Amino acid sequence: MLLSLFATACFAQKAEKFVNELLSKMTLDEKIGQLNQYNGDWGATGKITPDGDKETQIKNGMVGSMLNVMGVDKTRKLQELALQSRLHIPLIFGQDVIHGFRTTFPIPLAETASWDLGLMEKSARIAATEAAAYGIHWTFAPMIDISRDPRWGRVMEGAGEDTYLGSEVAVARVKGFQGNGLGNIDAVMACGKHFAAYGAAVGGRDYNSVDMSYRQLNETYLPPFKAAVDAGLATMMNSFNDINGVPATGNSYILRDKLKGEWNFKGFVVSDWGSIGEMVPHGFAQDRKDAALKAMIAGSDMDMESRCYRDYLKQLVNEGKVPMALIDDAVKRILMTKYELGLFDDPFRFCNEAREKAQENNLGHRKFAREIGAKSIVLLKNNAVNGQNLLPLSSQHKSIALIGPFMKATVANHGFWSIAFPDDSARIVSQYDGIKHCTKNHSTILYAKGCNINDNDRSGFAEALETAKKADVVVVSLGEAHDMSGEAKSRSNIHLPGVQEELLKEICASGKPVVLLINAGRPLVFDWAADNVPAILYTWWLGTEAGNSIADVLFGDYNPSGKLPMSFPRTEGQIPIYYNHYNTGRPAKDDEDKNYVSAYIDLSNSPKYPFGYGLSYTSFDIANLRLSSSKMALNGGKIEASVEVKNSGNYDGEEVVQLYIRDLVGSVVRPVKELKGFKKIFLKKGETTTITFSLTSDDLKFYNNDVQFVNEAGEYDLFVGNSSNATLKGHFSLE
Ligand code: GLC
Repeated sequence: MLLSLFATACFAQKAEKFVNELLSKMTLDEKIGQLNQYNGDWGATGKITPDGDKETQIKNGMVGSMLNVMGVDKTRKLQELALQSRLHIPLIFGQDVIHGFRTTFPIPLAETASWDLGLMEKSARIAATEAAAYGIHWTFAPMIDISRDPRWGRVMEGAGEDTYLGSEVAVARVKGFQGNGLGNIDAVMACGKHFAAYGAAVGGRDYNSVDMSYRQLNETYLPPFKAAVDAGLATMMNSFNDINGVPATGNSYILRDKLKGEWNFKGFVVSDWGSIGEMVPHGFAQDRKDAALKAMIAGSDMDMESRCYRDYLKQLVNEGKVPMALIDDAVKRILMTKYELGLFDDPFRFCNEAREKAQENNLGHRKFAREIGAKSIVLLKNNAVNGQNLLPLSSQHKSIALIGPFMKATVANHGFWSIAFPDDSARIVSQYDGIKHCTKNHSTILYAKGCNINDNDRSGFAEALETAKKADVVVVSLGEAHDMSGEAKSRSNIHLPGVQEELLKEICASGKPVVLLINAGRPLVFDWAADNVPAILYTWWLGTEAGNSIADVLFGDYNPSGKLPMSFPRTEGQIPIYYNHYNTGRPAKDDEDKNYVSAYIDLSNSPKYPFGYGLSYTSFDIANLRLSSSKMALNGGKIEASVEVKNSGNYDGEEVVQLYIRDLVGSVVRPVKELKGFKKIFLKKGETTTITFSLTSDDLKFYNNDVQFVNEAGEYDLFVGNSSNATLKGHFSLE
């Protein structure tokens, strides 16, 4: 341990010396060049500015980084140009490697539903290995935005509504991407995004304003970013939104006071696509020159695609409006990462054709994709039909009808952000292929599309109904299109689109038992289905092996264990709905209480499905909650909570046991529940185990009205269960 600390210190000293010497030789133009990032010719993830000859600018040292340049041939070519510059400073190549790369995995919200941190770390690890083999140094991930609003299309990229879960997942993903440290050939720089509170956009409308107390900002939205920084996050990307009227890109409270000050972040901040220039339409900057000034003063180091730094920083420095010290700090942060990546020693170390070829179709990675896909599926319902639970299906189902617009979908299983390999259909396992392969020895597969995703064409209904009537069981695959969630994909109506629900009703009316698969990047509203279909699996978008993962769960080769990372609303009018809400002065006493309480008179009070909810083919009994003490010391205190968990059903399986607390009285009102721990365990049928959580007084800190992170003595309830509806309760006092 001491040796590694010593080695790290020596490396840092060497890096510092090298970078300082290089900085001292750089002209102002060359320094500003390092702060400039352009999009490549591969594909666009924002509005393109068709201008200038980028290759000449690269050769002249006027570009520090490129994004969306993929493949060792293309990155090598541009790197060769960069090395022709006077000081031979290499480029860094960034890409949105959000959930897998050559092999795609479940969308991040789906992976979070696995509640398996080790799996999520491994997912990011594999993504980094594949991306690095394609010449990529830097991923614009993990997306760390907490969100309580499923109208916002980017919930698909994050870890859902909870700060504790979101923090744990952020750390797992940073560790996965950065592996054993930058400089390792399979490690890429992670990028925490979008800093900050982007998921709290008013109305769930992408890019919209965010307005909240600094207490709420620090309590709910910043902690996952802090956790990522503490885990060694290399870079941060700021968000498009304003926060209380100040755009994140020009917000010194979050960038200088919090990130680079209080949190002592040593990496660099990249703006999101064009967000520096967007401070003009925000009405925060007079013009692009003013935008460049405000962004640099606030702490945005690298300019993605706006060209404001390129066009105005030299003038601003010469006018004395931007201190050279700020420019030097920004450039140094960027050069330090290039040094850590080993690019000054060998600028082409990520340009290895053989390594790239080896990742073209890595069977081990596909096997993992199948596993994490199955573990991300959430079983929402599994009612009995003819005396036994409809799922898992088995060889007794001699004929199975597969119906719906997603059954044969391929690229859609990539989800919104897997833009790297758009024409990848041949490699992706559709639901139809996965199920057909799984049943090849015992069931006849029938198929009908039934309807399209989002139009009023009912011409396929008759064929679908006829097909259903011939089968013993019907599997219907419905949902929203893969590009109906993601960036700039906010939806005011999150019901099943088109005539999908009508088709479902007709098939259910046939009397055949129906299993519903729901494909989506967000919680959808599907009230009728939830109340009338006997079995429902939430299958999200699961990536390259989607069809196999779904088949494994359908036929019980994997017993589903997913738990919802977001509350599912009964209708859009219920949004925002989240489990860790405040009690109010007039809490409803039950789901239907409307008597002068905080409730809608036309809707039940609870979500359709709560945070942390998910069923299994087996059943788990959680009992005998015991606390090591009924008192915890205010400073440095700790208690342990243990429970017995029994697999009381007929299948081996995994359960996510969750620990929640409630601070009953505070100097500010406190949530009715707060997740403070979870453990995913495997139990064979009939097996019992005891699990123990430890809780410290630090775990109970919160932000008071003065935005101080404090403990307050008082009474706490503690809950353990398998969802946020946990009722097994204990009590202790913090004193
Ligand atoms: C996009 C996204 C951001 C992404 C960046 C580069 O606008 O907001 O998440 O990393 O541009 O593609």
